[in-house]
Amino acid sequence: MFPRLMQAARGSGPCVDSPALLRLLAASGWVRTLALNVLRFKFTPEVLERVRALPAPLEERARLFTQGVSLLSTGGSFKTTGADRTRLGDAVVLRLAARYPSPQVMEVGASDGSASLRLLAALPPQARLILTDRHPVFLRRGFGPASLTLDSDGRLLGLKLFCLYLRLPFNLRRSATGCQRIDTLNPLLSEGHGLRAILPFDAFSDRLPEPVHIIKCANLFNRAYFSDQAIRAAVANLGRSLAEGGHLVISQNNACYAGGEAYFVLERRGPEMLLVEEQGGHRALGLFQEAGA
Ligand SMILES: C[S@@+](CC[C@H](N)C(=O)[O-])C[C@H]1O[C@@H](n2cnc3c(N)ncnc32)[C@H](O)[C@@H]1O
Repeated sequence: MFPRLMQAARGSGPCVDSPALLRLLAASGWVRTLALNVLRFKFTPEVLERVRALPAPLEERARLFTQGVSLLSTGGSFKTTGADRTRLGDAVVLRLAARYPSPQVMEVGASDGSASLRLLAALPPQARLILTDRHPVFLRRGFGPASLTLDSDGRLLGLKLFCLYLRLPFNLRRSATGCQRIDTLNPLLSEGHGLRAILPFDAFSDRLPEPVHIIKCANLFNRAYFSDQAIRAAVANLGRSLAEGGHLVISQNNACYAGGEAYFVLERRGPEMLLVEEQGGHRALGLFQEAGA
């Protein structure tokens, strides 16, 4: 119980869900430190709706949306993302995609999709990129000055009361009936590229009805969050959504890697996932360096 209360205390704080505050956070490092680390401001998915409604150019809304989504937590983890952060992983995806006349690509853990904007623009027109995430939407239920935030499964994440956000430490669920759905697809992808939604997909348990040629998975398999056993099981599960000979590209951004990114590639051969390429010494690489995953 004590760790849960500590987690709830850390996840609670003042909350204004203001796009203007997002602008300030982006403009100045010291404002960011003051607001997020000292005053401990929190954001709820409401900020995404406010950014979407701003009378601002699409690029400005897209940038603020990515800022906002990156500050949202789904309980255990954040939806941190950024445009153009997975250049190495994307280059591998493009190289592999060139092998197929109509490459089918899925991204898992896509957040708002902004990390794949360049990939989307660079893939040939006959390619299909399916963006997926475990939590592609949030749910919101308002009661006057109070509102509840729930994840896509109806798990209660927090209560916002006037300008205060309280992270709820209980693992309670409630029905989605009557809740507002707030989807996390970046406006640049919906308005600029015609994508309709980020699709729900859990890397640990879901399987695509039709296998794809390539799966991109960036900044999800972090050994600080998941056990080695869980990462191996998730990779084996993702292999089931790959066509025979298809590839899983796993990349991670971290200042500890030269150039800020490391990746490795696993190839599906029968029931096995074999390591075929790596660069930068990704921290999860050791889990797959033996015969198979
Ligand atoms: C740190 S963000 C990375 C976003 C993006 N891939 C990038 O590199 O910028 C991790 C994302 O993985 C999603 N996620 C967490 N658990 C997941 C799971 N079991 N299956 C699929 N996605 C998951 C989170 O909702 C979040 O959007």
